[in-house]
Amino acid sequence: MTSSAKPVRVGVVGLGTVGSGVVRLLVESADHITRQAGRPILVERAVCRDPARDRGLRLPADRVSTDIGTVSRDSSISVAALLVGGLEPARSMMVELLENGKDVVTANKALLAEHGPELFELARRKGRSIAFEAAVAGGIPIVAAIGECLAANRIESIRGILNGTSNFILSKMEEDGAGYAEVLQLAQAKGYAEADPAMDVDGTDATQKLAILAHLAFGVWVPWGEIPRTGIEGVDSDLMSHAAELGYRIRLVAVASRSDGKLAMRVAPTLVKIGTPLAETRGAFNAVSIVGDAVGRMFFHGLGAGQMPTASAVVADIIDTVVGRAAITFRTTGVLDADSPAARISGIDMTEKHFLRVCVNDRPGVLSRITGILGEHGISIASVIQHDPSGAAGGVVPLVIMTHACGTTAIQKAVAHIDASDVVSGRSVCLSVLDD
Ligand code: HSE
Repeated sequence: MTSSAKPVRVGVVGLGTVGSGVVRLLVESADHITRQAGRPILVERAVCRDPARDRGLRLPADRVSTDIGTVSRDSSISVAALLVGGLEPARSMMVELLENGKDVVTANKALLAEHGPELFELARRKGRSIAFEAAVAGGIPIVAAIGECLAANRIESIRGILNGTSNFILSKMEEDGAGYAEVLQLAQAKGYAEADPAMDVDGTDATQKLAILAHLAFGVWVPWGEIPRTGIEGVDSDLMSHAAELGYRIRLVAVASRSDGKLAMRVAPTLVKIGTPLAETRGAFNAVSIVGDAVGRMFFHGLGAGQMPTASAVVADIIDTVVGRAAITFRTTGVLDADSPAARISGIDMTEKHFLRVCVNDRPGVLSRITGILGEHGISIASVIQHDPSGAAGGVVPLVIMTHACGTTAIQKAVAHIDASDVVSGRSVCLSVLDD
């Protein structure tokens, strides 16, 4: 499609997995994008660490440089896509782009989770916008959904599978019986994992995304480091089998829910009932379930990692910026105001069912000792499974317990009590359970 309207010139900063995908989409879908934006969007310049590397992109060599200044100082460029991960130099680059009057689109959630308030404040002072749909849940338009489409609702809760890499690992282990290290390597090869994959598996990435979503949904700024976080490193195939036996799968679930004017938040491996949308979220897919007071429960599902799903969100933000929608959203949602009150995270107390795996010495009286401790802490048991020991009596066997709903603090105290007793061997595992 040709358009007589003046083209918009874009700078792409970072030509890694996502940056290359963005250039590819802008070039290969140029006609469609021109129709959506009402004018052509041209990649004027790109910045990367190694301009000589062949990425198979249709970019003239003299338009690719290592110098951010080639984008920030080019007055023909009005929009910059900042697709560099990590905190530095990404933070300095964002500042330079904003100072030089560029609207910025980014996929960098670590940067927003860490420095969001100051960067948003700078953008406001400069009359610019920052759009960040790609920073959370890859291709799923969840930022727009919360910030715009659900604006009439008081959000009651958010539950999300927000890290594609860890979901890919958990579902491959579960479906193929594959080993953890082997699947992590595969996730890296497919371009899902962060440069430092520890951030995927230890829950950091999901927690940073949850902090951004919670700010949009609840209007409070929660420093991501204060959100209780457990990664998937401790999830083994035995734990998956125990969960399956009870009708559940294990997923890394990020939760933020409002209760009595406070916000309870956490990221942790969680049992999700087989057949529910979270449990059926497999591979690098992400999912977000939101409850709004007017709309009720909504469910979003889509690819949360990978080149083109993330590029899809970045290019949509570029189009929104070009047509002026991003500026309106940025102004009206008031996201990440520097002066927003810190959230009062209500401890980590949520009332939920819990799954316990306790490795006990197989001898008389042990079961009553464990159930007795749970009773002392006011915790009611829904079911107990103990398999026949594989070895001789007196060995160590796993005891799998499902509780009725109880508070997080009570169950944690009970587990600490159990683990300090002389009938267990090793630390117990305690996971929250979601039935819907
Ligand atoms: N490493 C991230 C994930 C990519 O696995 O979800 C998108 O943030």
